[in-house]
Amino acid sequence: MGNSAGMNVGSCAAAALIAAFAWHCRADEAAPERVVLEKDGSKAPLEVPSTLYGIFFEDINWAADGGIYAEMVANRGFDWRTERPAYWEYDFRGGAEARVTQEWAKPLYPENAQYLRIEAIGAGTGCGMRNRGFCGGMKVVGGAKYDLKFYARGVDGYAGGLRVVLEKPSVEKGGASVQLAEFKVRPGQMKVGEAGATPFDRILPDWTKFTAELVAAEDATNATLSVLLDSKGIVDVEFVSLFPRDTYRHEPNGLRADLVEKLAALRPGIIRFPGGCIAEGDDFMSWYDWKRSVGPVERRYLNENRWDSERSARRLVYWQTQGLGYFEYFRLCEDLGAEPLPICLAGLTCQYRRPTHFAPMESLDYFVTNIVDLIEFATGDPSKNPWAKIRADMGHPAPFRLKYVGIGNENWDQPFFDRYSVVASAVARLHPEITIVSSSGPNVDEGRWERAWKFLREQNAELVDEHYYRDPDWFLRNACRYDSYPRTGPKVYAGEYACHERSRANTLRSAVCEAAMMCGFERNCDVVRMSSYAPLFNNVDAPGYHWTPDMIWFDKSRVLETANYRVQRLFAENRPERTCPLRSVGDASGLFWSAGEAKGGELVVKIVNAREAGREVELRLGAPDGEVSVLELSGESHESVNTFEEPDAVCVRASSVRASGGSVSLGLRPWSVMVVRIPR
Ligand code: AHR
Repeated sequence: MGNSAGMNVGSCAAAALIAAFAWHCRADEAAPERVVLEKDGSKAPLEVPSTLYGIFFEDINWAADGGIYAEMVANRGFDWRTERPAYWEYDFRGGAEARVTQEWAKPLYPENAQYLRIEAIGAGTGCGMRNRGFCGGMKVVGGAKYDLKFYARGVDGYAGGLRVVLEKPSVEKGGASVQLAEFKVRPGQMKVGEAGATPFDRILPDWTKFTAELVAAEDATNATLSVLLDSKGIVDVEFVSLFPRDTYRHEPNGLRADLVEKLAALRPGIIRFPGGCIAEGDDFMSWYDWKRSVGPVERRYLNENRWDSERSARRLVYWQTQGLGYFEYFRLCEDLGAEPLPICLAGLTCQYRRPTHFAPMESLDYFVTNIVDLIEFATGDPSKNPWAKIRADMGHPAPFRLKYVGIGNENWDQPFFDRYSVVASAVARLHPEITIVSSSGPNVDEGRWERAWKFLREQNAELVDEHYYRDPDWFLRNACRYDSYPRTGPKVYAGEYACHERSRANTLRSAVCEAAMMCGFERNCDVVRMSSYAPLFNNVDAPGYHWTPDMIWFDKSRVLETANYRVQRLFAENRPERTCPLRSVGDASGLFWSAGEAKGGELVVKIVNAREAGREVELRLGAPDGEVSVLELSGESHESVNTFEEPDAVCVRASSVRASGGSVSLGLRPWSVMVVRIPR
């Protein structure tokens, strides 16, 4: 699409010229002429789907365990595959000594068989193990309530008691810790087994479950939780869990409220889970099998986190408890009013990993059944289907909504096509009410993507998942790509995208480039039906590899809205009901826009200035005389980045301008996004 000064019929034809346009305007350059935007009667308005703006959740950057999943104890079930219990350390007080081992005999549940055995040789003033939580200490609020749960049993006639203490280490070296809360198990309160003549003959008793409410005496960001024997002898300990009562909507086994509130503010139309590459795993041992993520939390299988292996030295300390499992994902969607979009396996694992594992063609019914059972879990009748019964037993007898299922993530070429066609056609035949989302590979505009589109067209696919993690220049050159997509055939889900600066920082420029792209989604919402920025979270406190940029950064106490988050929110909060095509008059290079009618009839216009210079734009849209509200996202320079220290380097400011004679005159800052709401 070309552009020249004068009438522009394409709604953002200017993008093609952006590369040629000087990015840094010199002071002696003539100011660009005023651009007029007016209604384009030659194009029909489109209904904007509620699914247009969604979110992508993946347990990358410690987004789940240690992140949004509010469990405070790391490695609560002692099942992380490490020689010593990861995240637990000796806590021997007043001369105590012990042998601490990980055991499997007579487990609480076979799914997570490993537990902790503390054999106190001498108990001193307390003998056991201490957990520091996920990120160098637990955050605790004074006066707040915490739900403690654990299982224990005495071995070989253990006659003593147990203490579980929440503490804050002293700031002074060598000083005593401050006790924040305590729970005591007195002798006789837990089952104790008898010793045999030899350890082989000992009789292990059943486990005793303990629950307690702890109230923290004061604030801490480095609290620890210790399990301590008060007498010499042997005690087995399993599944030590501590949750804040104050989770999102106070749900048990819940999510961090401050993080979910940020997601709620995005008003997501869809939520994609569990990823990403996590869905596929490294191999058939570590793919995300939803069946292993539901039911009682104690019985959910621990799964290796595929992102652990991004480390240079593979240390295997990043595991998924799946405490945030498919039930919780569906509940989150329900709470946020979003359509769930689970991503399932197409019979092959991550093609980025070598070797990729391909299920034999004759065994693909395994994956068909897995997906069909998922649909039953979500929507089936508990009296007729065992998976639906698990859902009901978990407290949700009513069906969840489930309209979409993704088959495959970033898969490509013949081995994928062969498997996808078998799995997808079987699922479609058995559940014609489900819309299948199909993978088109890890990137657009390349051979794999072209071959995928050709194949998926032939398959009559409904929604094709496109991914792009590309630089600012690519984003601006592609912001109008959907203007020319075919109007028939499969629709698009822009399922993973983010503008990547060379520095991989969440700059203002990256956010503005994404906004340019999102204008394209909105203008072309007959083609682009859904979208989601990726990845969602970055837990900055967490160890190891971190993918950047990400939409939301957080630590145990703080949540940071990046520039990119603010763009997403701006678009979601100003999603119109139906589009109103506009055209430009004047040199609109570097300018991108979309417009539409909101619920009450207001006209919502989004304008993106992706240039180093300010712009004057006139909206000739018949605005009645009076005040028009304006929101503008901008920052000091295109490199501006929000940080914990400077969280509003890129922010949205509200103001108003006067409309007169049917038109509104606007001054846009360099690298900015403006939303104008014109009353009817
Ligand atoms: O968003 C991070 C990763 O990027 C996803 O897991 C994967 O699908 C893509 O390569």
